[in-house]
Amino acid sequence: MKITSKILYVGVTSVVMLAASCSKDPKSTGLEYMPDMYRSPSYEVYTNNPNFPDSLTMQAPVKGTIPRNYTFFNYPSSNEGYEAAGRDVKNPLPLTEQNVSEGKRQYEIYCVHCHGASGQGDGSIVALGKFPPPPSYSKGNSSRGGSMRDLTDGKIFHTITYGINLMGSHASQINPEDRWRIVMYIHQLQNDNKPVASITTTTDSTKVKP
Ligand code: HEC
Repeated sequence: MKITSKILYVGVTSVVMLAASCSKDPKSTGLEYMPDMYRSPSYEVYTNNPNFPDSLTMQAPVKGTIPRNYTFFNYPSSNEGYEAAGRDVKNPLPLTEQNVSEGKRQYEIYCVHCHGASGQGDGSIVALGKFPPPPSYSKGNSSRGGSMRDLTDGKIFHTITYGINLMGSHASQINPEDRWRIVMYIHQLQNDNKPVASITTTTDSTKVKP
């Protein structure tokens, strides 16, 4: 009796499986005995959504949407934008040795060949005589007025982001956090390459996206 029912079970299962699997079309899913499992009731991402005029499920964010934890640097690439940023924007990262030394590392990648190791405007391409020397951070004057020594957080960040005259924008190469770390190191170079007095030894690596 037991053997008979086993044979019957195997027989019935095989017939069902055969019925479900055999098809001339190799891409066919075969017999659909639970259609919901094959055909998801959710909308496709890029097509056929009747709820939106463009029939896409994936909609662009509403105009003016800002990602979480994102601080907007809403200053145009102009003298007015430069002055406004210089007045209103403060470095959002804590002034720590760790941030300054990372800023130095980035400076030595992106800025040193023009501005020089100690920020005197004597980088390697200037030494070749092919490029006019940028003003010294500690002794020079800004082409936008005032001394380089007095450049604020926002002015330096604006310059790295948009560039100024012969200096190009570095926005595509350096992310905003690293730009802020470089700003810290520039303050040290303005201060005759001596650490800025208010530096702490905390190793806070707070993530901020300006
Ligand atoms: C290709 C050479 C070059 C590179 C690379 C370069 N700079 Fe400059 N930078 C200049 C020149 C030239 C000036 C002066 C421009 C002017 O005012 O006419 C300048 C000016 C500046 C100023 C002063 C702007 C002001 O407010 O007057 C700052 C700050 C500055 N650079 C920071 C940086 C930092 C930080 C980097 C690296 C991320 C960098 N630069 C990379 C050439 C360069």
